[in-house]
Amino acid sequence: MIRNTTNKTINTSNNRKKNTAVNRAHIRSEKFSVYYGSTEAIKKVDLDIPKKSVTAIIGPSGCGKSTFLRAVNRMNDLIPSCYTSGKLFFNNEEIYGQLVDPVLLRKRVGMVFQKPNPFPKTIFDNVAFGPSLYTSRKKGALYGIVEESLKKAALWEEVKDRLNQNALGLSGGQQQRLCLARALAVEPEILLMDEPTSALDPRATERIEQLIDELNGKYTILIVTHNMQQAARVSDDTAFFYEGELIEFAPTGRLFTKPGETKTEEYITGRFG
Ligand SMILES: Nc1ncnc2c1ncn2[C@@H]1O[C@H](COP(=O)(O)OP(=O)(O)OP(=O)(O)O)[C@@H](O)[C@H]1O
Ligand SMILES: [Mg+2]
Repeated sequence: MIRNTTNKTINTSNNRKKNTAVNRAHIRSEKFSVYYGSTEAIKKVDLDIPKKSVTAIIGPSGCGKSTFLRAVNRMNDLIPSCYTSGKLFFNNEEIYGQLVDPVLLRKRVGMVFQKPNPFPKTIFDNVAFGPSLYTSRKKGALYGIVEESLKKAALWEEVKDRLNQNALGLSGGQQQRLCLARALAVEPEILLMDEPTSALDPRATERIEQLIDELNGKYTILIVTHNMQQAARVSDDTAFFYEGELIEFAPTGRLFTKPGETKTEEYITGRFG
């Protein structure tokens, strides 16, 4: 459900808060830094991201939100000048450990980008692509996974009669839900979303927010957003970054109503950024 007022939303979000046993850290960073050449874009961040809930990352442009997100599935590996120090864990396993295979990591840590980026293939093939890499199933068996994933992404009803049409023929909002279905098809544990609605209109945005709500509790979701209303609507906890530093991490309701740091207050009241 999309809710209209920030306060109401925050209350609902808090009511949904999981018990502490379930709520243990799924992603943990310890003095974790990310560099591009000599520039430290993420600065010694200590952060525990709870399992199976939604965490928002907010902060002004260039503060390192995407950099942090991309560290979690090692997408930053693709940038030659990029390296890290400190530690980043996923299920107590070091993400930058020598034994970690980034390809397998990315199966467990799915990502949805700012701009919908379906492959120029059929709707079916977009969703079947991942599962077909990781399993040796034939097209018939893949159908079940495709149907289930499209249902999870609330797209099935709109596309079930056109699975063999090109995905690029879908609307922007449908394409983004397709990208979500594609990410869900390989059964990840974590979903990273980097401004997933910034290219969408309000109706399509509402649809994605509804979906995040439905997926909350089933996956650990880390969402970067410039829209503070959105962070307040969809997340349980919020991390505020500024110039590469984690300034504050708190339950969303508290961060937006009683921020503990002056910088956070200045940002959420629109004094900069
Ligand atoms: N590939 C790269 N090479 C060099 N520097 C980079 C690279 N990507 C990001 N940076 C720098 O790292 C810092 C953090 O960038 P990042 O993209 O993580 O910020 P962001 O918070 O996601 O910003 P935005 O809200 O604009 O998306 C910025 O100073 C940026 O210029
Ligand atoms: Mg970014």
